[in-house]
Amino acid sequence: MNKIRLGVNIDHVATVRNARGENYPSPLRAALIAQKSGADSITIHLREDRRHIKDKDLEAIKSKLKIPLNLEIAATKEMLTIALKNKPKFICIVPEKRQEVTTEGGLNLKFKKSFLKQMIYKLKKSKSRVSLFIEPSLDDIRDSKFLDADCVEIHTGKICNLINKNKNYKKEFQKIKKAIHFGNSLGLEVHAGHGLNFKSAQILKKIPGIAEFNIGHFLIGESIFFGLKPIIKKFKKIINK
Ligand code: PXP
Repeated sequence: MNKIRLGVNIDHVATVRNARGENYPSPLRAALIAQKSGADSITIHLREDRRHIKDKDLEAIKSKLKIPLNLEIAATKEMLTIALKNKPKFICIVPEKRQEVTTEGGLNLKFKKSFLKQMIYKLKKSKSRVSLFIEPSLDDIRDSKFLDADCVEIHTGKICNLINKNKNYKKEFQKIKKAIHFGNSLGLEVHAGHGLNFKSAQILKKIPGIAEFNIGHFLIGESIFFGLKPIIKKFKKIINK
């Protein structure tokens, strides 16, 4: 069986840096440590409001990183131009609302359908692997295939909340399982991310067909206490045990 890859999202290193308006801690330094510690890719989300990752972080990380950079962007002309200029190996298109604290749900693929199709076409032509961040819905999987995405990333926020609150997550688990199976059957590579911690990653990795997990907030939070390297190693062990 193929190993599940771990994408390490370092947005919140930038959040801490920006809290003081200083240059420290450096997202580039975090990306390089994560790379050395076994991360398979580094994820950064360049938000429209630049609340954490800034354009200069993208340029610095892109120029120094050896493993793939996964750039998360909204479906806008500005972000498409930036992505085409920087040519990250991986792109994940995500929904974005100014007021949200984090990416609250999956993309609405019915909205801006022709723009999305054009955007995916241009990004793929520029040799980026394109993923769409979606809800675990069969309809969204079908639309992702129609839009010609390479991959989908299933939003795991809902199941992670249920698990954290010790609530029954079986229905959501089945929904995710069906979505992954359907995605794989259409030839899409399926990823999962949002809200994951050790416990939820352990539960979700039991579903066959997940190629990659993308994890940020919990991983950076735990790193404050234990350091990036041990936490990355622990996640990699959990998802591949
Ligand atoms: N995947 C995507 C597409 C995301 O937008 C995010 C959040 O930025 C994550 C994964 C990581 O979520 P978390 O920080 O909750 O681990």
